[in-house]
Amino acid sequence: MTRTPYSLLFDTVLRRLDPERAHHLTIGALRLASAVPGGLAVLGALFGRGAERLPERTVLGARHRSPFGLAAGFDKDAVAPLALLALGFGHVEVGTLTPRAQPGNETPRSFRLVADRALINRMGFNNHGADAAARRLAAVRATRRGRDAVIGVNLGKNKTTPAERAAEDYRAGARALAPYASYLAINVSSPNTPGLRDLQGVDALAPILEAVVAEAAGGARDGGDVPVLVKIAPDLHDEDVRAVARLAAATDLAGVIAANTTIARPASLRTPAARVAEIGAGGLSGPVLAERSRAVLRLLREELPEGAVVISCGGVTSADDVRERLDLGADLVQGYTALIYEGPSWPGRIARALARTGARR
Ligand code: FNR
Repeated sequence: MTRTPYSLLFDTVLRRLDPERAHHLTIGALRLASAVPGGLAVLGALFGRGAERLPERTVLGARHRSPFGLAAGFDKDAVAPLALLALGFGHVEVGTLTPRAQPGNETPRSFRLVADRALINRMGFNNHGADAAARRLAAVRATRRGRDAVIGVNLGKNKTTPAERAAEDYRAGARALAPYASYLAINVSSPNTPGLRDLQGVDALAPILEAVVAEAAGGARDGGDVPVLVKIAPDLHDEDVRAVARLAAATDLAGVIAANTTIARPASLRTPAARVAEIGAGGLSGPVLAERSRAVLRLLREELPEGAVVISCGGVTSADDVRERLDLGADLVQGYTALIYEGPSWPGRIARALARTGARR
């Protein structure tokens, strides 16, 4: 593990702060850097340097300067996507956004498992709603830097919307946000909205996928189609992963994002079981996810037709992890939890390491 100024800061200060508070401070700093003139250039010079040495790849119709992006949940309200891109991510997925603003679950709802470099969260889709995000993204797209930035938008349903009406929520989100999205991700895999993951069954999922694909068709700013992907849970059985892949292909989806957090509590966790039990319900993320995430990637590659995109997510920490996912057939790779432990230099370090050793598959 590399010692960086951030690891010193983490060990002395940040790990003592409540994780959600630390997150607010970070997002606030990134938002400020986006607002002050020259702030993004400074962030890029400090952290993102070197990503431009990677060969650009076109995925989902957009040019990515790195295959490695930021997974959903970090910038839920799309307040700082350009600052996050300046750190060296190739793309940023904002959200999850629901049609109406909602507060999420009671705090505390985010917990560090430092010994595992993992997190457990039960945020519950706290967000300002799709329209507020659409306004922010419209402003981003109006800038020179923002026009071609690769910003995916992750969609969910409000907690109070009954399962039978879920498709209406996803449709409303797609309608509001498709014009500003490089791609749309249908999130039916977060463990923190009761019943959400049941929407992964093909009967419930089909109308949701159809509704979003219908809104995304011709929904881009230039009148083109916005690619749609579905994000699945690592806890699905293999047969269910295959069934979702077949449905995605049959519904003209561009691909699948695998995977979200897990509700499992693997025996391999180093954090004492009593502490894990005390934290309680929520989605577990970090290196413990890597093995299942790789297995789901292999299943998807077997089942999906040629040309379908897979974004691999879960437990990625190093450039070697990214390269391994690309070698297994991922088109893009995402991470979230390691950013908390590695700090703002992490995406740039990964991009530079990939540029040194070659990231092509
Ligand atoms: C997430 N994740 C997530 N995913 C999603 O689709 N919508 C969301 O709103 C969130 N929110 C969220 C909050 C927090 C605190 C964490 C840690 C994670 C899941 C995330 O995008 C990713 O799929 C998993 O965390 C697995 O990747 P990592 O973290 O192991 O790299």
